[in-house]
Amino acid sequence: MTSRTIRRRTVAVVLAGGTGQRIGLAIPKQLLKIAGKPILEHTLQVFEAAPDIDDIIVLMTPDYVAEAEKIVTRAGLRKVSQVLAGGATRSETTMLAIEAAAARLSGDEDCNLLFHDAVRPLVSQRVIKECVQALERYRAVDVAIPSADTVIVTRTHGDDGEFITEIPDRGRLRRGQTPQGFWLSTIRSAYGLAASDPLFQATDDCSVVVKYLPDVPVHVVMGDEYNMKVTQPVDVFIADKLFQLASTTAPAHSGEEVYRHHLAGRTLLVFGGSYGIGADIARIAEAYGARVYALGRSTTDTYVENPDDVEEAFSRAYAETGRIDYVVNTAGVLRIGRLDATDNATIREALEVNYLAPVNIARIAYKYLSETQGQLLLFTSSSYTRGRAEYSLYSSTKAAMVNLTQALSDEWAGDGIRVNCVNPERTATPMRTKAFGQEPSGSLLSSEMVARSSLDVLLSSLTGHVIDVRQQDPTTNRVPGTGFEQALASILHEQADTSS
Ligand code: CTP
Repeated sequence: MTSRTIRRRTVAVVLAGGTGQRIGLAIPKQLLKIAGKPILEHTLQVFEAAPDIDDIIVLMTPDYVAEAEKIVTRAGLRKVSQVLAGGATRSETTMLAIEAAAARLSGDEDCNLLFHDAVRPLVSQRVIKECVQALERYRAVDVAIPSADTVIVTRTHGDDGEFITEIPDRGRLRRGQTPQGFWLSTIRSAYGLAASDPLFQATDDCSVVVKYLPDVPVHVVMGDEYNMKVTQPVDVFIADKLFQLASTTAPAHSGEEVYRHHLAGRTLLVFGGSYGIGADIARIAEAYGARVYALGRSTTDTYVENPDDVEEAFSRAYAETGRIDYVVNTAGVLRIGRLDATDNATIREALEVNYLAPVNIARIAYKYLSETQGQLLLFTSSSYTRGRAEYSLYSSTKAAMVNLTQALSDEWAGDGIRVNCVNPERTATPMRTKAFGQEPSGSLLSSEMVARSSLDVLLSSLTGHVIDVRQQDPTTNRVPGTGFEQALASILHEQADTSS
């Protein structure tokens, strides 16, 4: 075993050459849309965002190569260097990838290959990192998790059905996932040996090394329970639910020049702009040269729940500046109390301000934003994943914002309009202080920080996303998918809270 100091290149090979017979749809399952995007695109984005990955090769079902190329272009995936046709079996697809990668090396050069099933879109950055690290010491790496189920081995006896022949010790059983990583030289020689075996068959790549190069140790990296392979129809449903949790963390703060470039001379409407996050967004955008209309009850007498007021705000801004590029709605009301003790007026206000207003704003914004291919930015609350006792109206109307965002981003994608939703962690705003009183200052995000992140979303190409803004430094935690573990942890935490 060699310990290497020079970092070798790592090529991710995304295996998307299958047809997905077990799901049984007309298109290959890797093209199915989950959370608004094809599964293949989700998977590619994880590798695109992985700092250790230098290059990505996609092996696609032969009739769909053009479709995969379209996805790569549309998503702006810069690390993808080749989209090739896959083979008739997974192993054939792997072999084609090995030869494509080898053709790009010179002499005795070597590199790491990380083979990954395109239909495992929930692979984590941690797993990718640990695989690449392991390849510094080992020539072959697998990813696996312990088996929760007892696994039995059976034999069929004629018409009597199956009978158990063995029950292996569950403690030693692991369920294999991907990525599976190898030095190119190693996996190439394993497949070279397999080629002369007439009985060769395999459903993964590590088994080829184990069988044909038994002296090569295959290191095992701990996988994730949620790194599931979309295989059966029910998996589409489960993966979709998991993606709803895997919201996106805010993009890194842009540089001064970028803010100026995107904001100077543009028109921004902020509903709920009188105070709190809305007022901060307005102030910062204005400093970078945007024409800002900060609209609110107390300042401009704009009642967001009144469509006439909203209509008037849009037409005035358009008449004065000739364009509307960005529309933000931060207006919201948060009244705490049991629903059975809430009066009609309070219920009506919550529905009108938190739900009807964004719907009206969106409807009216459409024609203006389609002229500029601009963006609508809504706000949700961390309670959207799970309703909270004592603020049922707030959490349920905020949950509706997520659904509205997803629906409109799809509806307006053809018009080039982006729609996103910011999910700020608990933030120090007047609305919050009114509802909860003074809270320890360190436990809250500053409204200015949320405003900056909101502007970063406005300037990004994201659409259809729920963007989490959290306490952590966004520069160290900005890869897609990392919000997922935190969301799971917070659901468990809340369950523990309510049961105590
Ligand atoms: N794969 C591949 N080339 C093949 C067959 C499979 O690249 N000829 C890929 C699939 O696209 C998938 C991964 O290998 O990303 C795992 O395979 P599996 O889940 O078995 O996919 P399918 O073969 O598409 O599914 P099925 O067995 O249900 O037809």
